[in-house]
Amino acid sequence: MTLPDGYSDIPAGKIAAVVTHLEMTARPSLRPDPAGTFTLRRVDSPDLTWYRDLNRSVGEEWLWFSRLQISDAELAAIIHAPLVEVYALVQDGRDEGLLELDFREAGQCELAFFGVTAKLIGSGAGRWLMNRALERAWSRPISRFWVHTCTLDHPSAVAFYQRSGFRAFRRQIEIADDPRLDGTAPRSAARHVPIIE
Ligand SMILES: CC(C)(COP(=O)(O)OP(=O)(O)OC[C@H]1O[C@@H](n2cnc3c(N)ncnc32)[C@H](O)[C@@H]1OP(=O)(O)O)[C@@H](O)C(=O)NCCC(=O)NCCS
Repeated sequence: MTLPDGYSDIPAGKIAAVVTHLEMTARPSLRPDPAGTFTLRRVDSPDLTWYRDLNRSVGEEWLWFSRLQISDAELAAIIHAPLVEVYALVQDGRDEGLLELDFREAGQCELAFFGVTAKLIGSGAGRWLMNRALERAWSRPISRFWVHTCTLDHPSAVAFYQRSGFRAFRRQIEIADDPRLDGTAPRSAARHVPIIE
């Protein structure tokens, strides 16, 4: 479907985002690891409550809702899949970042979830975690590593991914029910995207 040029109305109760897909087709050289006391913990067969809590503490401000609105069975089918790897970035014994790599499509890896909690944004933790993501992804025989991000995400995300070696190749519009109106996220989340109802 082709969207018309110009402004398009979004119904009240919905949110809209511009989605950018980015990819790399060869292993890039890593940017310098910032100093920090970060460690990476692989979480095998993640507990669903633990996973939702971390997904929420990293993503609530950016209206990540996709993993919060699906059933236990649907979530387990993804994050317990043998070709999906879930990691936590740990600082001071606390899980402060989420990395999820999805190798289910042969020869590829999707950076399915990536981010750190608010207190670690701008601290070097994101770069450190991206370096670990690149090492893990390219340790398998893939020829493509890709990610999509949207305008609800942190405003630095696109440039951060470009500096990491990803190249933008596709743009989409995503429209969804506002997750703050059905209790998925608190009404106080993401004040940069006011609720319209
Ligand atoms: C998107 C996101 C990962 C970007 O990370 P960030 O916090 O801006 O990144 P960092 O502070 O780790 O790194 C940014 C740069 O500052 C540098 N830096 C930051 N603190 C540093 C320090 N103490 N010492 C040295 N360098 C430092 C990093 O090395 C990096 O440099 P580079 O990009 O030129 O290599 C982060 O904002 C985030 O997790 N946001 C919330 C979730 C989100 O929106 N995720 C993306 C959705 S797909």
